Amino acid sequence: MTIDFKQDILAPVASDFAAMDTFINEGITSKVALVMAVSKHVVEAGGKRMRPIMCLLAAKACGEENLEKHTKLAAIIEMLHTATLVHDDVVDESGLRRGRPTANATWNNQTAVLVGDFLISRSFDLLVDLDNMSLLKDFSTGTCEIAEGEVLQLQSQHQPDTTEETYLSIIHGKTSRLFELATEGSAILSGKDQFREPLRKYAGHFGNAFQIIDDILDYTSDAETLGKNIGDDLMEGKPTLPLISALANTSGEEREIVRKSIATGGTENLERVISIVQSSGALDYCRKRATEETEAALQALAVLPNTPYRQALENLAKLALNRIQ
Ligand code: IPE
Ligand code: IPE
Ligand code: MG
Ligand code: MG
Repeated sequence: MTIDFKQDILAPVASDFAAMDTFINEGITSKVALVMAVSKHVVEAGGKRMRPIMCLLAAKACGEENLEKHTKLAAIIEMLHTATLVHDDVVDESGLRRGRPTANATWNNQTAVLVGDFLISRSFDLLVDLDNMSLLKDFSTGTCEIAEGEVLQLQSQHQPDTTEETYLSIIHGKTSRLFELATEGSAILSGKDQFREPLRKYAGHFGNAFQIIDDILDYTSDAETLGKNIGDDLMEGKPTLPLISALANTSGEEREIVRKSIATGGTENLERVISIVQSSGALDYCRKRATEETEAALQALAVLPNTPYRQALENLAKLALNRIQ
């Protein structure tokens, strides 16, 4: 079966999704014109909105009927996500995001860092209004771990000896943790404590699969499809799974080229590294790992009641595994 995003994932929460989108636009208010301009630049570029959709579906999958608070939570999550992207593009010196020049490229690093800070602060400002201390605690802890993931990644930059285990800690922090907040946060807000763990596990494994695929796409896709430049990871000397796996499967000159590319960064060897990644079977290994993570995500959902909402969460995981953008 081919999964249709609108019909098989979005449809069960379509009206709540529209309310969420309105809330994002209303939520970003500032008396400082530059804050507004930069925030709108990134938010209006769109994005897949996967985290808020997951949050809304998780609420319904827990049996929640009134999603008034959850639409706010979902908007807050997208705002946090946007903030991490704005910061990430400064750190990665990236020029293209969501098909548009990044905030750092359009304005400058200083502006992007400060507006990213604003978006995080504003997210917590709105979170307080939901008046739920355990939710606030979960988000405070979780966002610390997201920042730690990015710092751990920085520490591993240019380190060819980075292990798959370290890579997993990095992606769990920088990517999966926010997906976990999106789903577990829904269960907390609904007072459905019994669903916190399964929903967190689903989102954690989903996030791992999603980031592994993203790291493959950085070697195999193109800017047109992806809305961001490919080759950025190699440029930055990031030891992502395609390279970790290529190193495990090669020897001699090929292995040296990959090691050196991580150590120095830059894209002069990009073509060569892409061909080594392909011929070494690294992509197959990455796809196998992403498939395993997706299966673990689906497995975690099994304890939830079988509803169209749970099925939509399953569809989202399956679609993400086969995504090209
Ligand atoms: C980008 O996330 C950051 C990663 C975790 C790879 P998305 O691919 O969800 O970004 P948008 O929101 O659709 O632009
Ligand atoms: C994901 O990191 C960004 C965050 C989770 C903050 P990447 O650097 O791998 O993602 P892209 O490729 O810039 O979207
Ligand atoms: Mg990046
Ligand atoms: Mg990337």
